[in-house]
Amino acid sequence: MKILILTGSPHKKGTSNTLVSEFKKGAVEAGHQVEIYDCAHGNLHPCLGCDACGMNGKCIQKDEGNQVLAKILESDLIVFATPIYYFGMSAQLKMMIDRFYAQNGNITRKHMKAILLTTAWNDDEIVMKGIKTHFEIIFDYLDFQNAGMILAKGAGTVGMMPRKYLEEAYSLGRNL
Ligand SMILES: Cc1cc2nc3c(=O)[nH]c(=O)nc-3n(C[C@H](O)[C@H](O)[C@H](O)COP(=O)(O)O)c2cc1C
Repeated sequence: MKILILTGSPHKKGTSNTLVSEFKKGAVEAGHQVEIYDCAHGNLHPCLGCDACGMNGKCIQKDEGNQVLAKILESDLIVFATPIYYFGMSAQLKMMIDRFYAQNGNITRKHMKAILLTTAWNDDEIVMKGIKTHFEIIFDYLDFQNAGMILAKGAGTVGMMPRKYLEEAYSLGRNL
């Protein structure tokens, strides 16, 4: 499978990117082709809502967004990786998801697989409630098949992240 991972953390070696590394290790070992696009450090700007794309064309923003959209359309699986920011995904990742608008129909028609990897400092029940529901709705809307979600609670730093989440991320990639 061709896998595109969209990451949304400003911490290149932080918790969500550590889950990404474990997932990637497993997926590469299983023979998949994996590419990562770093939404937090790439040249990306927000959707302007101008509708120049008509939800079916090129975005007028002169940045890397159109290239990422082209990569998505060549992929079989998208992995979304983000820290929890105020009970949701980071703005860095959301910025790229909003840019899906320019290729909304083509992305939906691909019936891709999708995975969510996310990390939060807190360990209580409520911390993952919003993001889980949000991504379930996004996956449903874009006709993505939910291939797994790792919701790592009590994972505020790499040192405090429970080991089970690293093992889960590796297994998810290895057993795709
Ligand atoms: C702006 C901001 C908002 C945050 N909001 C939450 C939150 O709502 N709940 C929580 O448990 N942790 C929250 N955190 C902590 C991060 O989710 C947590 O430290 C995470 O492991 C960081 O991931 P990273 O290392 O991949 O960047 C927040 C951190 C920042 C910087």
